[in-house]
Order: sequence, then structure tokens, then C-alpha cells
Amino acid sequence: MSRIPLFLLIIMATSLPGTFVLGQLRSSSSADPHKFFPQKDLMAIGAYYYPEQWPRKDWDEDLRNIHDLGFTFTHFAEFAWTFLEPADGKFDFKWLDDALDLAGRNGLKVILCTPTAAPPAWMGTKYPEIYLVDENGRRREHGNRANGSLTNKILIRYTDRMVMELAKRYGHDKRVMGWQVDNEPLAIPDYSPSARKAYQDWLRRKYGTVEALNKAWFGSFWSTRYDDFGQVVIPNTHVYVEDKLSPHTVLDFKRFTADMQADYIDRQAKILHDRIDSSQWVTTNYTNVTMDTDPRRSTALDFPTYTMYPVNGTAYPGPHGFRLGSPYKISEANDFYRPIRGVTGVMEMQPGQVNWASVNPQPAPGAVHMWLMHAFGGGCSFVCTYQYRHPIGSSEMYHEGIVGTDGFTLSRGGQEFKDAIGEMEFLRQNYEARAIMPDAMASRRTAFLWNHENLWDLEIQKQNSSWDTWSYRNKVHAAVKSTAAPVDFITEKDDFSSYPFLVAPSYSLVDSQLVSKWHDYVLRGGHLLLTCRSGAKDRDGHFFSGPPSAPISSLIGAKVIFSDMLPDGIKGAVLSGGKTFNWNSWSEVLQADPGTTILATYADQFYSGGSAAVSHALGKGTVTYIGVESTDGSLERMIIRSLYENAGVTIEDLPEGLYHEWRDGFHVGVNYGSQEYRMPVGDSDRVLIGKNPLRPGDALVWKETEK
Ligand code: GAL
Repeated sequence: MSRIPLFLLIIMATSLPGTFVLGQLRSSSSADPHKFFPQKDLMAIGAYYYPEQWPRKDWDEDLRNIHDLGFTFTHFAEFAWTFLEPADGKFDFKWLDDALDLAGRNGLKVILCTPTAAPPAWMGTKYPEIYLVDENGRRREHGNRANGSLTNKILIRYTDRMVMELAKRYGHDKRVMGWQVDNEPLAIPDYSPSARKAYQDWLRRKYGTVEALNKAWFGSFWSTRYDDFGQVVIPNTHVYVEDKLSPHTVLDFKRFTADMQADYIDRQAKILHDRIDSSQWVTTNYTNVTMDTDPRRSTALDFPTYTMYPVNGTAYPGPHGFRLGSPYKISEANDFYRPIRGVTGVMEMQPGQVNWASVNPQPAPGAVHMWLMHAFGGGCSFVCTYQYRHPIGSSEMYHEGIVGTDGFTLSRGGQEFKDAIGEMEFLRQNYEARAIMPDAMASRRTAFLWNHENLWDLEIQKQNSSWDTWSYRNKVHAAVKSTAAPVDFITEKDDFSSYPFLVAPSYSLVDSQLVSKWHDYVLRGGHLLLTCRSGAKDRDGHFFSGPPSAPISSLIGAKVIFSDMLPDGIKGAVLSGGKTFNWNSWSEVLQADPGTTILATYADQFYSGGSAAVSHALGKGTVTYIGVESTDGSLERMIIRSLYENAGVTIEDLPEGLYHEWRDGFHVGVNYGSQEYRMPVGDSDRVLIGKNPLRPGDALVWKETEK
């Protein structure tokens, strides 16, 4: 927050609802979040409870049952603003005090939430401008959640006051283990007057002069230039469908929206950090697929957590895929969220059927247990489930819980949670401090370079509606994981050198600094993978002059001559390693420099024989470039696997949907596939949980015997 003179703060505070002054805020949390979660405790397991949704007489029994099932913590007050502040400036904490007392007496710790995702009715009646406005100019109203305009000063002031009151009251309460700010932060495009004003201010700060903005936005095209920042409108991609808006404008609006969302989270985190005990942590619960929200933009959280609903009506591969759930979600969420601060957890884990998908199948028996073990293997410090008790009313009344509507009959998922809780205790007994990652795994450590701005750039200008940046990320990540490589998502600012392998799929926006960082990494012995669409644009999203992706030509040892794409239902063919692969959505024809190895060639189209993938030895390392997206990811899988093998690293050959993770001395295998699979458990290794081979939906935990 910028420094504002005190007298101005007082004027601002007294001229707006309530009378409160926001003090000087401490900057981001710098404490190492590992201190909150002793390694030997492995993974704690908890359950959501909404006291305000149940009769007061049920609370004690419900909380006792939660404890008796083995859960060690619960989660309160997420959407309870109307109960915490029933009228403007009138706070009621009595009910929450009582709930905390009961939780404490029943041996449960509590994650306390700020209720800001659900402003109370009185606020909207008094100040309708607190709601966001959608692309059709329609203002959201009371009766749902995530409806606030995060740039609206009135909403922000009410938010600050609510968070301060909670922090004052519970910031030193020993029953509170930590805080969740808001709920599933979403960067929702907002067309309200306050968003427009904030956008103009953001642009002023970014560009300084309107000339600089016109240059970045290519204002010479179609007279789109501005004379003044005050003229700038919010780009509405829903109105202009065929004649598209400037992609540079839209990219900036995505950045702005993600920044505003991150500011809203950070603002709350800072208010908390300034007032709470250092033993309490602050997080939020991001969705696992974050298209518009960029979790790395928030800097004031102690660590991020994610929410997880793998079975959601999608037909994932294999006959039981729709019941076992997405094979990508937990795997990627672990690898994405854990490296941000070194700690992560699952704030919401699906316990059974959900209500919100277009079809809501039952998860397969065993699936919930497998997801829990997958979260464990991927390094999570805790998992909490949404939610303990099946609701009897409102829009989530078809959503299963750990127990049924009666408050005690265990659901199948509830039983699986209970089993996993018991198993976790057994694993704790087998925990040995100072376990070191086995050499075979460490030798294939891989960094997955990620920048949300590339995702936005590619989605804004897909150039082919069948291009899907997120599924492409799934393909490449799954191909890497088939080797049983430990993966960390990292950013350009991070040190690449501790990873023998660096994967940067479709890394479209680059600058000379990044390209030379890649060069240095490879010269010193790193193995870099870049794929189609990488290096195509500068940070404003403009092409470079010269051949496509000119800045990376010398790195990949080839020139991109042109790109192609095929209509729906038509498949092109690529040859590699004596096999034929299909493609449809994106191909690039490459011209390899002398000395560059050609890994794949096109087998049809007018450019048959042209190169599709290459490998370039540079200094002590290599660069691999795959210029085509294969339909089923099998080409990427084959090339990626040989990249490790050629580097002299032993890899596993895990079929699609099989994962092998390692943490704290425990190997974990999970099977989202459709076949049995035997995990590489050595003769003298000790299986602690499950059976080898793993059937679909099974999890296996084993330990190597000390050598
Ligand atoms: C999540 C959300 C929860 C609950 C849940 C239902 O996305 O954060 O509040 O609505 O979905 O599955």
C-alpha cells in the first residue's frame, strides 16, 4: 500500500461508511512457512463445518463426531459476513466464540476465514455500487457470492474493517491455527465505473504517457489510439467477436484484473499479519485450474492452498476415468502450488458427488482415498474436505459430505477419509527424519517454467479455436511425469541451475534477458525443452521483425518458417522414430541449421518432409524444440522421454494416469489409468499401504529399506 498522510486517511475514513483508519501495513510475510507444519506430522486432515447453517443444538455433537473420526481441525466462517456484521458497524461474535469453544473442547484446531466473498444484504441495499458489472452491463446483486467489485472503495473499506475486527478478536486465539482469506479468488472481468477508473489509473502507472500506451497497444490500427488515459474503456471481447479487439489491450486488461484480485487478497493478508500471532498462518484457497487468476501475483500470503474436485462429469481417459477423476489436476496442483513458498495444502477435497457440474457422477470406490494419497505424495501439509455434513437445503444440497444430512452416517467418501486418517497415523510411526530423495529421482528433477501471461496471450489469440493452452500444459506435464521426474513449476526469476531439466512449453512472450538466461542455462549443461509458439512475441504481445520466433532461432538451432493448422476432423501425420503420429491444432515447419538433429518430420500436407521437431547441442547442454502439437500427446511423450535418456538419466515408463511421487522417505504410487500396474518396489522394500500391482483407483505407499 502506498503511504498516505495521516490527515488524509482520517478524512477518507470519516467520509465513508464506518469510522476506521487503516494503519501502516507490514509488507509480505517473510517467515519460512515450514515452521507451521512440523515435517514429522506429515499431512494433517480436517473438515469444513458451517455452524451458522445448522441448529445450535447440533454443534457440539457435530464437532465431537468430526474429532472422533480422527480429523484434527475444522474450518469456520467462510461466508458468514451477515452473521458477523448483521448491521452496518454492529458486530456479533458470540456465535463464533461459542463455535470456537466447542471446537476447542472437542480437540479441534480451527482455520478461520474472512467472509468477504459474501457481502451481507444491507451493504448492497445501501451501496449497490459494491457489486461488479458483467460484460452486458448487468450489475450483480445480492443472493450469491463472489459478486463484489474488488476495485470499489466502499467494499474495500468494509472489507478492511471486517478483517481488522476478526484479527483483533481471534488473532491471538490458540485454537486458531491459521486463516483463509476470502474464497477461491477469481479474477472476474469487471465493467463497473470503479473498475474503469482503476484500470485507467493502472495504465497511467504502467505507461506514464498516453503515447507509450498507444505504442504498446498498436493504436495506429483502426484509429484505436487515445489522446488521454481518461478515454480508455474496458475491452469487451463479448461485444466484438469477429472483428477482434487489440490483443495488447486485452492482455493488459487480464493483467490488471489479476492484479486487482491479488491486491484484494494481499490487503487482507497484510491486515491479518499486522495483528495476529506469529504462530497463525495466512493463506487463500485457489482453484486448481486458474485461467484468469494468477496465484503468483499475491505476495503477502504465507503459502497458497488449492481446492480439488477431480470427478466433475468429464469423461477422462479410460472406461472408469469419469469416476476416478482428472489424472492431471492433483498432479499439476501439487507441482504448481508447492514451489511457490515451499508449502501447500488442499483446502477443499471432494468427499463424494458434487452438485455443480452438468452431470454429477459418483466417484469410484477408492478414488477419494487415492486422491488423498496423491496429495500426500505431492508434498501437501494438510488436506481439508468440503464439507463435513451433507446440507439439507440451498444450491449445494446435492453435494455429498463426510456424513449424511443426519450428521453421523458416514458416506463412502467419508469412510475413505477415515481410513486415510488411520493410515496417516501409521505413516507417522514410520517417519524417519533426514530421508534423502533417492538418486534416481533427484537426477531427473525438472523445472516447469510458467508465466500466466503466456496463457493469457495464447488464449486471447488462439488463431485456432481447437487450441487449448491448458490441455496442452496437461499433455506436456503428463509426459514429463511419465518418467517419474519430480517437477516444480518455477518462474523466470528463479534459479534454473539446480534443475538438470527445464521445460517451457509454448512460452510465447519473451525478451532478450530471458533468452540469454536460457542460453546460459544450456551452455552450462542444462537440458531445455521449448515447444511450438515459444518465443513468438515480445512482452506487449507484438511479433518481432524477422522470421517467426526469431529471438530463439540460434538457441533451438532452427528457423520457424511458417505455422499451419487443420480444420476439425482432419488430421496431419508426423514421422518420428519410425512411428506415425497425428496432429490437428498446430504445426510449425522448421528449417534446421547444419549440425541440428531432426527428430520428427511431416509425412503429408504440401510441406511433407519438412522438419517438425529438432534437438540442438549447445555448450554442455541441449535444446529440444517440438514445433507440432500431437493429438494425443504421444509424440511429446516419446521425445521428452528420449531427452532424459539421451542425457544419461534412468527413467520409469509410467502409463498415462500412473504417478510415482516421493516425499519424506515415502514412495507413493497412484493409478488413474484403466490397467493394473506394478510399481517399481524393490524386493527388500517395505509396502506400508496398498498392494502391488495397483489396480485402477488404488494407491500404494512403500519405503526403501536402509542400505
Ligand atoms: C468450491 C467452493 C466451495 C463449494 C464447493 C462445492 O469451488 O470453493 O465453497 O462451493 O466448490 O463443490
